Amino acid sequence: MNEAHRGRQTKDGIRIYDPSDSAGMHAAGRLAATILDEMSALVFPGQTTGEIDRAIEKLVHDAGAKSATIGYKGYQHASCISVNHVVCHGIPGDKTLKDGDILNIDVTVILDGWFGDTSRMYVAGKLPRKAERLINVTHDALFRGIEAVKPGNTFGDIGHAIQSFVEGHRMSVVTDFCGHGLGRVFHAPPNVLHYGRPGTGAVLEAGMFFTIEPMVNLGRAETKTLADDWTAVTRDKSLSAQFEHSIGVTEDGFEIFTLSPAGKFHPTY
Ligand code: MF3
Ligand code: CO
Ligand code: CO
Repeated sequence: MNEAHRGRQTKDGIRIYDPSDSAGMHAAGRLAATILDEMSALVFPGQTTGEIDRAIEKLVHDAGAKSATIGYKGYQHASCISVNHVVCHGIPGDKTLKDGDILNIDVTVILDGWFGDTSRMYVAGKLPRKAERLINVTHDALFRGIEAVKPGNTFGDIGHAIQSFVEGHRMSVVTDFCGHGLGRVFHAPPNVLHYGRPGTGAVLEAGMFFTIEPMVNLGRAETKTLADDWTAVTRDKSLSAQFEHSIGVTEDGFEIFTLSPAGKFHPTY
């Protein structure tokens, strides 16, 4: 069978996968989500983000999978761990978590050639009230976006659902980073924006696989990238949160590949 026959793409370059491909995505997504489930026990005051990352690397390896991030554009870790005002792409290291720190752990695995990409928020010690509000709004914003996923809707519908919800709570959606198509590759078309206008953008079709991964700031939306070329922070130093699921468009809606097998559905973990 030749490649042209195997893969269909839309005019926007978005790959349409076969219904049978969801099995591979569910397996990869389940592994990434299982690893995040296990991180709950490893997040506490005094812990380092480097220690958490090493545990993730071992779990990926022990599952017979590969880390998608180690070696990706020179990145050297099995996770991104973004603490407090770090928006995304925080590099694990010797930094010690303090009581009340909030953090996003983002894991991407490759299992049998399929990519599973997911992230959640955690807290070290006691969750501060303002951080709790931010985390709840970010989590619910992701699900507003996911609920807009069905054939015939557009990517603008997803972005609008997220943005209108977040701004209704007087918080800001980060516009400098977006979700992405994935499947047998890590980052593929389309860019999944977390803001937008209803009815704009590419039309969703069954067989599209992509992430939705909104980043929400308590203050302003602007970010900057530190000198390490990875760590993105809020310019105003306000707290930031993010959740990410890998999902597929089905004939009548969506399927989530990265749901928690342990039933950890509500923040924080
Ligand atoms: N997992 C991130 C995403 O959601 C990408 C991380 S790339 C890395 O797309 F190199 F920073 F790890
Ligand atoms: Co992603
Ligand atoms: Co990710």
